[in-house]
This record gives sequence, structure tokens and C-alpha cells, in this order.
Amino acid sequence: MDHFELRGGVLYAEDVPLTAIAEAVGTPVYVYSRATLARHARVFREALSILPRFEVAYAIKANPNLSVIKVVAAEGFGADVVSQGEMERALAAGVPASGVVFSGVGKSAVEMIAALEAGIGQFNLESEEEGVELAALAAARGKVATCALRVNPDVDAGTHGKISTGKAENKFGVPYDRAGGIYARLSALPGMNLRGLAVHIGSQLQSLDPLAAAFAKMGDLMRAIRAEGHSVTHMDLGGGVGVTYKAGDVYPDPQDYAAMVARVTADWDVTLMFEPGRVITGNTGVLLTEVIRVKQGVVAPFVVVDAAMNDLARPAMYDAWHDFVAVRPNGRTMTANIVGPICESSDTFAMGRVIDEVAQGDLAVFRTAGAYGATMASTYNSRALVPEVMVDGDKWAVVADRIQPATILAAERVPDFLKD
Ligand code: LLP
Repeated sequence: MDHFELRGGVLYAEDVPLTAIAEAVGTPVYVYSRATLARHARVFREALSILPRFEVAYAIKANPNLSVIKVVAAEGFGADVVSQGEMERALAAGVPASGVVFSGVGKSAVEMIAALEAGIGQFNLESEEEGVELAALAAARGKVATCALRVNPDVDAGTHGKISTGKAENKFGVPYDRAGGIYARLSALPGMNLRGLAVHIGSQLQSLDPLAAAFAKMGDLMRAIRAEGHSVTHMDLGGGVGVTYKAGDVYPDPQDYAAMVARVTADWDVTLMFEPGRVITGNTGVLLTEVIRVKQGVVAPFVVVDAAMNDLARPAMYDAWHDFVAVRPNGRTMTANIVGPICESSDTFAMGRVIDEVAQGDLAVFRTAGAYGATMASTYNSRALVPEVMVDGDKWAVVADRIQPATILAAERVPDFLKD
């Protein structure tokens, strides 16, 4: 459920017509609904409340906008971060340091020191090497790093290959068969408080089965580690729950996910941790765009919009589907290719798709663009960096400016050796 709906023939975000935002801010622009965001966060958290002990950290990478983090944090979420930049955003948005989990396969020493100084709640270690380095950095500062060890369970998530993380050939976590030994060795280090295991097998999962299989393997590993006399008090089950991009596709809802977790972890006696991203923000945003012109094609017309792959990379990167709907639909449809202005063929949002009929100057949105949308934007082709707006009832505000090409150009320098 979301708060983007037609009223009197115009698409609204909550109580604001998208036409008003386009007129004031221009296009392309991401538009988020605060009510939808808060609702998604609350529903997910409430679904988990059937579990005896849990903590939930929003995966900042899905949408790191400061205002978005603030809304999610107000619903009782910590933050899963993968860089110092994300950590600083989470702290700036008011997430307590104790609620920050630092994940990521390449934490630098500088980042680990910053996180130790900030006093974050947990590091998710991706390797023995990283654990040894972090323990030494902590001990040298008279600190103790609270950690979980990320394990690669070698389970196929059944999602797009580029967002799969839990197969043995992927770069994430330590190999399942070596995890017990690594846990024992890292536990013995000064500066290290290793309290649990972490797993994340991929994103946009359509089925709960691979998650259940991975969690069951993690349970076995947890029991084996405890049997060796080590303590395991926390188990981080990652994120990955998919959302519906295309009508008719069926994805698990948070209640089904929580019920599966409750069943698999019934006898674990741990604090469970979660790192959802997409399921919190995916449906809370749209990318608002204007049709530049409709160009005749050989097979179907090309609807050329002013949003491009630099603004919404998912179709180009993962062949992802985003519904395209007119802001003022006229009731008719057309079959068209939807493309952006960028000079490569991957700048294509859809081919031969039946869409609302649109013409030059019409506004339309790409739906379900609140996760992995603005955050993956670039300025390729020297285009502006896309701005973001948040709507709250009948109020709205620009929550991230459009960064103009001139601003980016001003940050470049021509060195003396090129001057004559
Ligand atoms: N935890 C870890 C360790 C992760 O790597 C990720 C996502 C998450 C949590 C959150 O996963 P979610 O709940 O959002 O599925 N750019 C891609 C998605 C990349 C996901 C990367 N990791 C896309 O647009 O589909």
C-alpha cells in the first residue's frame, strides 16, 4: 500500500498533485511520501514483534537521504552502513551510535577507526584478516570492537546474479566450512568482542525458501560454535526481502517473513538482527519525469523522457522493471519503448511496453523508485544530479537539491601544465 493515487484525474503524492512539484522544482525529480515510508517501517517492525528479542537496522544504502533516514529512525530503526559516509549520515539523522551496524567487504583502517571512535554497536566482519586488523586498532586505543562474523552459507538466493551475495563464489563473508575456526581464533584476540554471526544472501528475493535454508545452516553453525565453548548471543539475518515492481508478481509480505524467521530460529535463544532496505523504501518513492518528445520508431514509438539511466540505473544495470504511469492519464494506452536522452542503448527503461498514452510535455512517473534510485544516480553525460522531494500530507519540501552541471564543473581544475 502507498499514498500515490489518482484524484480527479491527476496523480497525487499524499495530498500534493505531482504537477505542482514538477512546476516548482522541474523534472526529473524523486518524490517520496513520508506517510508511506513511516507505514512501511512500522509494518515491518510490527511483523517482527512476534520474535522474543530483535533489533532492526535500516540498510542506508537503499536510500541514504537524510530526511528518509530520520523518518525510519523515528520508527525505532538503527542503521546498517557500509561506509564512513553512510555512518555519518546515520548519525546526522539522529540514529544513536549504538544502533549502527557497519557491514561491507572493504572497510578501510580509516573507516574502522572512525567507527570505533563513534562507538558504533556492531561491526560485521567479512574476513579473518579484517577481524585481526580491527582488533589491533581497537586494542591500541583501549577499546573493544563488538563484532559479528559474516558467513557465506553457499545458498542460491534465486535473484538477479548482480545482487546475489550468498554463493561460495561471491566475495562476501567467510566460507561456511572455515567459519568455526575463524570464530575461535578471532574470539581470542584482545580488543575483540565477537558475539555472533551474520548472513545476507542477496536482495529482491521473491521466495522465502533460500532465506529459510540459509538461516537453518546458520543455526547449525551457531550450535557447533557454542559446542566448542564460545558464546553466540546475536544473529544478524541481513535484508533481502523483495518488493513488487510489476503487478502480478507475488512477493512475501513482512508477516510471512517474520513467521518463517520465528519458525527457523525458535530454539536459538539469541537477539536477532535485521538489515532491511528495499522493503522499507522501495514503494515510498517515484521518479517524476517529463516526456521530451515521442519519436517514431520502426517497431514501436520511442517515448523520450527527461529522466535517464544516470537518474535511475536499475533498468540498465539489472534489466529491472519499473511501472511507468502518466500523471494525467487520458484513459488510452499505447505500445512504446521508453528511453532517456543518454547516448547509449542501455539508457532504456522499457521496450515494447503497453503504457498510458503520453505525448510531448506530459508528466509521468517511474514507480517503486524509492530504493536504489537517487542513491545510485550519477552525472553521466554531464547531466544534473537528480533532486529529491519529500511530501507530508499537503506539505512538501526539497530534501536534496538538484546539483547543476555548472557546480560540478566548478569543482574541476585545469593544472598549470595544461595552461599556455
Ligand atoms: N545487508 C547487506 C549486507 C546488504 O548487502 C544489503 C544489500 C542489505 C542488507 C539490504 O538489502 P535489501 O533489504 O535492500 O534487499 N542496487 C541493487 C541492490 C543491491 C543490494 C546490495 N545489498 C538494486 O537496485 O536492486
